[in-house]
Amino acid sequence: MSSSHKKQNTGSTMSTGVPAASDRNSLTLNPNGPILLHDVHFLEQMAHFNREKVPERQPHAKGAGAFGELNITEEMSAFTKAAVFQKGAKTEMLARFSTVAGEMGSPDTWRDVRGFSLKFYTSEGNYDLVGNNTPVFFIRDPMKFPHFIRSQKRLPDSGLRDNHMQWDFWTNNPESAHQVTYVMGERGLPRTWRNMNGYGSHTYMWINAKGEKFWVKYHFHTNQGMKFFNNAEAAAMAGSDADYHRRDLFDAIKRGEHPSWTLSVQVMPYADAKNYRFNPFDLTKVWPHADYPLKRVGTMTLNRNPENFFAQIEQAAFSPGNTVPGIGLSPDKMLLGRAFAYNDAQRNRIGTNFHQLPVNRPKVPVNTYMFDGQMAFDHSGSAPVYATNSGGRTWMDQTGPIADGWESDGEMVRSTYTLHKEDDDFSQPGTMVREVWNDAQRAQFVDQVAGSLLGGVQEPVLSRAIDYWKKVDAATGKQIEQKVRAKAAPQPAEGMGER
Ligand code: HEM
Repeated sequence: MSSSHKKQNTGSTMSTGVPAASDRNSLTLNPNGPILLHDVHFLEQMAHFNREKVPERQPHAKGAGAFGELNITEEMSAFTKAAVFQKGAKTEMLARFSTVAGEMGSPDTWRDVRGFSLKFYTSEGNYDLVGNNTPVFFIRDPMKFPHFIRSQKRLPDSGLRDNHMQWDFWTNNPESAHQVTYVMGERGLPRTWRNMNGYGSHTYMWINAKGEKFWVKYHFHTNQGMKFFNNAEAAAMAGSDADYHRRDLFDAIKRGEHPSWTLSVQVMPYADAKNYRFNPFDLTKVWPHADYPLKRVGTMTLNRNPENFFAQIEQAAFSPGNTVPGIGLSPDKMLLGRAFAYNDAQRNRIGTNFHQLPVNRPKVPVNTYMFDGQMAFDHSGSAPVYATNSGGRTWMDQTGPIADGWESDGEMVRSTYTLHKEDDDFSQPGTMVREVWNDAQRAQFVDQVAGSLLGGVQEPVLSRAIDYWKKVDAATGKQIEQKVRAKAAPQPAEGMGER
């Protein structure tokens, strides 16, 4: 209800502001007669209802969020000049959390990665960080992304989710091992959104006032503590309250319990990237904290629920390409692919002028040379619509090297990244299984992977999956194999391999 409508205490109006005749009875020739075509109020209601939904996000359709504030408590000016990260800065923000593969109405507690999207309404324009609750991802080339998402969604014939298809993709793309280890571990079932960490995941660039460049990774550690569901709890919750995570966040904020996260960054000197033991732009890798320790930056707190889910959450538009001065992208191919994908998805999903909606518009003045299109609301009157112009409308004219650029030369190729000294697909997930997890976490992981493999995964994908886990960790892989082979139904010798 807009504020002008709130003042009204009787009746309703049509969209023209004229009093509506009735919200209960359509206009008919007599009490039992046909509806008349000139019942414009009825026609408008029906026509608008038919257009009430917009396409859901593809992926990350199911989610919710809240507004809040980012407070910077530490001195960061040595690394970035971005106003949003200067000590003492307080910036209004929006967060949206989500599952990846599920559709709009799917249960919040199905095993999955969780999205962790942030929009900061900074004094220099909007800055978005669109991350996940894990620090890595399944693939390292954006060309694979649509294939990856389709493999996690539904079969083309039955419209069903399918373990075989998921594992087929993962095992054909072994760079997925690190992220699959996270998802099959306890992070795949966060208890609530308040109880999970968030990560920028990619490597980004920071630039200070002197023009010096750094590579950074963002970590948002939950101050509520990480908590998880086990499979049985998550399955029960999916049945009894499919919106559990959405409800938990909304109710907590309503009660005045404002969840918070501590923001830290890992900072790598610009020149280190070339010879670091892992390719620092490979999204399937972490930077061990022993190499680049966490530096505390500040605190993010969510303190205000949306007043309207559709206007403020469904129509919210986040993009990793939305940066501000002092923050840049990086040679991470995934990040560069994402810099295109989001705004384009939103033009399709919400409309050409999605950036003009209140939840998406910056708090600073806008002087853009993008004009008109469906539902244009902002305009610049009779000011010139072209640059350069003689009519007094300003334009930008940077030339030469850009502040947030990096060096690159060579032939144009289609290729995977050049490997660094310790780059491979299996060492980092192996370290997680052996050195980060305890016995109980390992046992739960073996059960989870074996259970998922037994849910319809057929040869040759089954054997490939067992091999995949043996490469991550020989002992864990063996345990998975034993469980799977003991329980797997005998499979026909031929004909079942290809689908
Ligand atoms: C090349 C790789 C990727 C592409 C092309 C891609 C594309 C997309 C698209 C088109 C959407 C829907 C956007 C919308 O309708 O508003 C989306 C949503 C999302 N993606 Fe990605 N994505 C990629 C990788 C990633 C990665 C690596 C992460 C996390 C580290 C991620 C996190 C998210 C999140 C959190 C959302 C939900 C945004 C929201 O809350 O509105 N994506 N992605």
